[in-house]
Amino acid sequence: MCGIVGAIAGRDVVPVLVEGLKRLEYRGYDSSGIAVLEPGTVRRVRRTGRVVEMEAVAAQKGVHGQLGIGHTRWATHGGVTEANAHPHISAGVALVHNGIIENHEQQRERLLGLGYTFESQTDTEVIAHLIHHHLRHGSADLLAALQAAVKELTGAYALAVMSADEPERLVVARMGCPLLVGLGEGENFVASDVSAILQATRRVIFLEEGDTAELTRNGVRVFGPDNAPVQRAQHLSDVSLASLELGPYRHFMQKEIHEQPRALADTIDAVINAGSFDPSLFGADAEAILAGIEGVKILACGTSFYAGSTAKYWIESIAGLPCDVEIASEYRYREAFANPKHLVVTISQSGETLDTMEALKYAKSLGHRHTLSICNVQESAIPRASELVCYTRAGAEIGVASTKAFTTQLAALFQLTVVLGKLHGKVNAEQEADYLEQLRQLPGSVQHALNLEPQIVAWAERFAGKANALFLGRGLHYPIALEGALKLKEITYIHAEAYPAGELKHGPLALVDEAMPVVVIAPNDSLLEKVKSNMQEVRARGGELFVFADQDSNFAASEGVHVIRTPRHAGVLSPIVHTIPVQLLAYHAALARGTDVDKPRNLAKSVTVE
Ligand code: G6P
Repeated sequence: MCGIVGAIAGRDVVPVLVEGLKRLEYRGYDSSGIAVLEPGTVRRVRRTGRVVEMEAVAAQKGVHGQLGIGHTRWATHGGVTEANAHPHISAGVALVHNGIIENHEQQRERLLGLGYTFESQTDTEVIAHLIHHHLRHGSADLLAALQAAVKELTGAYALAVMSADEPERLVVARMGCPLLVGLGEGENFVASDVSAILQATRRVIFLEEGDTAELTRNGVRVFGPDNAPVQRAQHLSDVSLASLELGPYRHFMQKEIHEQPRALADTIDAVINAGSFDPSLFGADAEAILAGIEGVKILACGTSFYAGSTAKYWIESIAGLPCDVEIASEYRYREAFANPKHLVVTISQSGETLDTMEALKYAKSLGHRHTLSICNVQESAIPRASELVCYTRAGAEIGVASTKAFTTQLAALFQLTVVLGKLHGKVNAEQEADYLEQLRQLPGSVQHALNLEPQIVAWAERFAGKANALFLGRGLHYPIALEGALKLKEITYIHAEAYPAGELKHGPLALVDEAMPVVVIAPNDSLLEKVKSNMQEVRARGGELFVFADQDSNFAASEGVHVIRTPRHAGVLSPIVHTIPVQLLAYHAALARGTDVDKPRNLAKSVTVE
């Protein structure tokens, strides 16, 4: 979490920094700040709240400079105050930091002993003082001081540092947090993510773990972990500026919900074009690896975990392989049993969620040999650490609440399932053709589900006044109930819980009365009759039912039972289609409650802390 951006140019960089910070706000939005070099001094502006507020103050104060750094914060060490906002400064050395320094307390003690004083409660301020200390005691310049300081840090960091005494350079370091350098003409940039600098350049270098770099106006030098110069490949980013703009939409979440037919079509494009589910979708060596595995272990967090939870049903029933799914932050700290013949699948939209990354490393340390990453961000840390990769093609997802990333993860996981089924003799040619046809129809079915929006708006208005909600599903649709409850709670702050419908009588039924709306995902599958019985249990206690069914479910609305039908039953892909109405319900309930849909309180999109 936290986003950083920096620039050195022959023009005023403040607009670049501010624009960059606005694009990085998904990484945290507790406070923001910039520091720029003015002759002989560093000028800083910081504010709690959103970047626009800091931007207004910077404009009012007339802050300009050709070298500068910026930061948007998600608070970890120290509250949401201006004093804790970045940049932090130590006598002319200013820096911004993404990550967590684990030994900050020892370093703080040491620096206090050396006469430094602290203005904030952050772990970051120690780094500024440490660099300043090295500049005073032997380091030849800012780069050498940064290289000496990071050797004394444990933890994770992406850093951008400037000094009033060295107006011709910006120095940066990376360990455990993403950082890339953007290459311009007579100007160079640094950022947590390419979206922040796309208005200036598409040519980027992804720094590797332990790298440091020095940026001047006319060049970039990168150094490896041993401080020796290294060459890192240049990439041309294909992220489109349009994908970062709202266009006609009111919120990114709304835009991203409506982009799902396109995002899904792009994600399944290779399979549809080839007319078959080919193992090469997951990498050149995938066939031999996937044919040799005997089971699947899925590790993920948040919404991605619910995608994995859905895939478990597919993998066991279609591919005939055992599959278990675990929350990454739990797995990484338990004494887990490892079967090296099981494929470890990590699922992550961002590719940088710390718990998922650490769970992957832990799985490898336990002896897992084969790993596969399903990810939406090219060149991010988790796919880079994985043997096989499948990129979802959702495009940039900016709303904190994940939508199109989830449904495209499901599409990728379904493709993995059928590939495994073929390689393990469980899916024959006829079944493959059937799955292909279901996949082909998926974007259209999702579009039909989006067309239900006006009916869902009417429901959402009723939800807006509620304090609690229950979501029920069974089988493949239980994870969709979980995802629906998560969406509702994260953006409306209505307390919502999901249960497998059969579990209702073991506790949650006690919560049901006239004030409790109960959302039921009830497509026409083999569990429909069971779900109907569970609904009777709710109705008998006065609970109001809001049922998402499909045309074939044969439901009638009645007193206290509201029904919306998705157009047709989508077979095994029904969970993807049924995700759309629960996303729309949460979105419109949030609109009715007036919450900040794209930036819900206390959350961030990219979670690079424990
Ligand atoms: C955060 C986001 C969620 C996301 C989760 C996992 O909590 O707000 O939307 O599902 O992280 O993120 P990942 O990038 O690993 O999928």
